[in-house]
Amino acid sequence: MSDKPQPSSAKVTIPLLQQLKNEERRITMTTAYDAVTARIADPVVDIILVGDSVGNVCLGFDNTLPVSLSMMNHHLEAVARTRPRALLVADLPFLSFHISPQETIRNAGGFLQRGADAVKLEGGAKRLDMVRALVDCEIPVMGHLGLTPQSVNVMGGFKVQGRSDDDAIQLLEDAHRLAEAGCFALVLEGIPAELAARATETLTIPTIGIGAGMGCSGQVLVFHDVVGLIQGHRPKFVRAYSDGFHVLQEALSRWAADVREGMFPAAQESYRLPEPLKDLIANWVPRKMGRPQ
Ligand code: KIV
Repeated sequence: MSDKPQPSSAKVTIPLLQQLKNEERRITMTTAYDAVTARIADPVVDIILVGDSVGNVCLGFDNTLPVSLSMMNHHLEAVARTRPRALLVADLPFLSFHISPQETIRNAGGFLQRGADAVKLEGGAKRLDMVRALVDCEIPVMGHLGLTPQSVNVMGGFKVQGRSDDDAIQLLEDAHRLAEAGCFALVLEGIPAELAARATETLTIPTIGIGAGMGCSGQVLVFHDVVGLIQGHRPKFVRAYSDGFHVLQEALSRWAADVREGMFPAAQESYRLPEPLKDLIANWVPRKMGRPQ
């Protein structure tokens, strides 16, 4: 198998994702929060998620709760300007889909008007009315169950979910309710592999796992985790495919060393005057400037 991007210019659509699930071809999804990462990811994955993980990954927050709708709009607009062929999903942040169906529709509809193809929201049975309201307005919804980061305070930390019989059954029931309410796919995060596999086998819509084992229809990881840009604690479910942090830092260090040693810029990185101007500029001396009256 080649590790090069698998180029295809065809836009990824929701029916195509369903076809991948039906044909048991695994779906790939990663995050992008800006145009640079979107351009790197787009030829490689099926789905780009403008995740509210931008809060802890890029904006320096401890969790996703402080991420606002205007922050999400700002990052979504940057990604959408690249016109990705991947399906572009935007995450509804905390409090943007809790208050009323009207507000939820306005916020999610704003994402579609900014170029998203679909929205994602966290939560199970409690969010069904919002999911139905969005689907009724032709806004495609991806659900998100299990370790839902916006529920960090209720969960008492970022802990694996669905480990008791009640929680496991609740999760399976929530997954089916979300599918019946019209979700086109579900993210299953931080749950035992057997539970995610059972959800996947019994649902007709695709499941995208993160920390949910091998039995899902696809996998999602945060871009910065895949390329090794995050320092410090690495969750068990993350596999970094490069040491991006040190690779980039090493490049920057070489540039800084070249600057300090007078090796950067060189002739090829400099602009030159036209030949006739060279003498004029070389012989120019500063005039004594009088004080303005
Ligand atoms: O915000 C995010 O990045 C996510 C994914 C990890 C699923 O919700």
